[in-house]
Amino acid sequence: MKRVITYGTFDLLHYGHINLLKQAKELGDYLVVVLSTDEFNLNEKNKKSYFSYDKRKQLLEAIRYVDLVVPEESWEQKISDIKKYYIDIFAIGDDWKGKFDFLKDYCEVKYLPRTPEISTTKIKADMSKALG
Ligand code: CTP
Repeated sequence: MKRVITYGTFDLLHYGHINLLKQAKELGDYLVVVLSTDEFNLNEKNKKSYFSYDKRKQLLEAIRYVDLVVPEESWEQKISDIKKYYIDIFAIGDDWKGKFDFLKDYCEVKYLPRTPEISTTKIKADMSKALG
């Protein structure tokens, strides 16, 4: 059984996220999503998510490609996650290309093509423009 891991915030879940999760799952048999907590988003990524961690987790757990959702609380946890969940492949969108090559000592690393034009940031910007 091949086990895949991916990381992200997945706020205001959109079709770009679904495409990413589908591609990640297709690399193996079991997909772990490490979901940024609200504190991690705020303190480390400088973004405030619209949906709380619990809501974002609930949405991800309803997706057929996702087998397990666990919290991301630090940048440093990746190596221990890979060991803890017996991961074969680390997968993430190609906006992160090259950034996680250091994980190649622990598992395969794949950068997956991002879906053009859609992002949480864009949804938020378009909504606030529409509402004036
Ligand atoms: N992703 C993707 N295609 C998109 C948007 C996101 O493949 N159009 C991928 C990212 O590359 C990442 C995962 O989905 O692997 C989670 O990304 P996240 O940062 O949570 O989503 P974004 O919509 O990019 O959010 P933001 O605008 O806040 O950066």
